[in-house]
Amino acid sequence: PIGLRAIAASRGLAYGAALGLRSVDEDQALADAYTRECAVLVPEGDAKWAGLRPAAGVFRFDGLDRLLGIADRHGQSVRGHTLLWHEALPAWVPEALRAGQGYDILSDHIFTVVGRYRGRIPVWDVVNEAVAPDEGREDGLRPTPWLRALGPRCLDLAFKAARAADPGAVLMLNDHDLEYASPLQDRRRRAVLRLLETLLARGVPVDGLGLQSHLRIGRPFDPRILHRFIGEVGGLGLMVMITELDVGDAAVTGDIPTRDQAVADHASAFLDTVLDHACVKAVTCWGLSDRQSWLHHHPAGWRPDGQPMRPLPLDVELRPKPLWQALGDAFRNA
Ligand code: G3I
Repeated sequence: PIGLRAIAASRGLAYGAALGLRSVDEDQALADAYTRECAVLVPEGDAKWAGLRPAAGVFRFDGLDRLLGIADRHGQSVRGHTLLWHEALPAWVPEALRAGQGYDILSDHIFTVVGRYRGRIPVWDVVNEAVAPDEGREDGLRPTPWLRALGPRCLDLAFKAARAADPGAVLMLNDHDLEYASPLQDRRRRAVLRLLETLLARGVPVDGLGLQSHLRIGRPFDPRILHRFIGEVGGLGLMVMITELDVGDAAVTGDIPTRDQAVADHASAFLDTVLDHACVKAVTCWGLSDRQSWLHHHPAGWRPDGQPMRPLPLDVELRPKPLWQALGDAFRNA
């Protein structure tokens, strides 16, 4: 059967999904589904500091090497995720930051990791979740341990080190809660635009914006607002990717067909808006099957009726859901 990767590719789009290596290691059927559906694989944890850096001076590349091997065998590419983030940090990192070693450990990490996969990882989520306009800073940046140690130049450093380590890689800023019409998300969009403009004005090599797109039915979606925002990002000469798509259905009552259809309809409205822009090049979901969503390990990931959410394109039996159809239709119409 034809997979989403082929449907997307026929319109010049890249489709893929995140995976934890452990979820496919013992699940051959899931591994086969990734092969069929995905042109892009995103390591859900293996390329974070917590996955790569058990101790200062130690790099553990076995997981990421193995993922690259899987991708090579199946004609897939890997999007690296992520180099500068305030979560998934091993305990030695905050200590090193307090000791004034931030510049050295950040540049060393990025040179080593991006350099090792030079020419083999075509896209990197260099910076993850950099804005938080309600956390007190005038520039709208999130006050992370990195930012406190190095100032806003930590962002410059991350992108410049990544560019130097692999001049051919596409370098992304990836952020969340930019999709809906709430006042907070409005402030977040403005903070992201301002950050991108500032980085570009300083000559920082950023190539695109990733919209995480953890969608939740019931939030106020306004296609005109999202459409305008993506147009503004594209107008800066940047590309846009949908990087962590999933659709929470906690607000939907009814049986499973009703829930799954609501998820698909919500995604259709979103995807039709997004894919109207030529600057949008790729869509990746945060997981492929309802077997393995991160939401099932998160307190916000459960419905009021105690049932797990059904946020992804394949069900727990790996059968395509209405969301799978919605993705295919949106790609065909793009
Ligand atoms: O591997 C350990 C395991 O040995 C241990 O027994 C278990 C006990 O908690 O934890 C396991 O590690 C967990 C890891 O996922 C692997 O499953 C971590 O606790 C858990 O914090 C980690 O969560 C990940 C989270 O990022 C933090 O890195 C999620 O899987 C992952 O889906 C999530 O992804 C983020 C994106 O990177 C950025 N955007 C939001 C998105 C969702 O939070």
